[in-house]
Amino acid sequence: MDDTGRQRARRIADHHLAGGDPLGWFDEVYASAGEDISAIPWADARPNPQLVQWLEKGETNWAGQQALVVGCGLGDDAEELSRHGFDVTAFDISPISTAWCRKRFPDSTVEYHAADLFQAPAQWANRFDFVFEAYTLQSLPGDLRPLAMGDIAQFLAPGGTVLVVARGRDPHEPDTGPPWPLTRSELATFNAHGLVELSFVDDMDGDDPSTRRFMGLYRKSDKAF
Ligand SMILES: C[S@@+](CC[C@H](N)C(=O)[O-])C[C@H]1O[C@@H](n2cnc3c(N)ncnc32)[C@H](O)[C@@H]1O
Repeated sequence: MDDTGRQRARRIADHHLAGGDPLGWFDEVYASAGEDISAIPWADARPNPQLVQWLEKGETNWAGQQALVVGCGLGDDAEELSRHGFDVTAFDISPISTAWCRKRFPDSTVEYHAADLFQAPAQWANRFDFVFEAYTLQSLPGDLRPLAMGDIAQFLAPGGTVLVVARGRDPHEPDTGPPWPLTRSELATFNAHGLVELSFVDDMDGDDPSTRRFMGLYRKSDKAF
């Protein structure tokens, strides 16, 4: 990712956030990249390493299970889940990103949709065995994050799990962004939506410079509410 792309994305984000529009900047960042992946600050054209690690550790047979990828970006995570046997639906608020996914993976069986997490199709409620979310929560201002977590939780079928990957911080550390690193207690908001934490990893990644990452796995109760 070149600095020019990062600086341009920052300018676009700042402009929209200052105008009280916290969601409008993503599509503009994708548009401004002109199909150059290296101009998208969060895209690296490979599946999320934490997701890969988690999938490879699991002994579960995922074949036929329904997965949803929230804020799917350029589609690498959705494609990885599909490779592991999931039936995958993936969505992003940016129609440019989902069109780009279809172009990158023309033979994919993943269903890509342009959709806003806060106005998702009603038929996605209580439907998915597995939901994956990387770096979307941390891209939203603090007042939207609890609402986003509630919406993510309601996608899960009873007994389903959500895996969240995000930058992490301690509560006393500055809450500046985007991206806004999350605290562990912030992620515990999932508990209020009927989920329980199954595991939590708090680690430094291997990037240079190294970044603190959280990976939380949360499960919805088996009992239908
Ligand atoms: C930081 S990027 C991460 C993208 C991808 N998950 C990844 O790890 O490469 C955040 C993504 O969330 C999407 N997004 C932001 N707000 C959204 C919303 N309300 N509904 C759906 N997608 C959203 C953005 O368009 C962007 O693709």
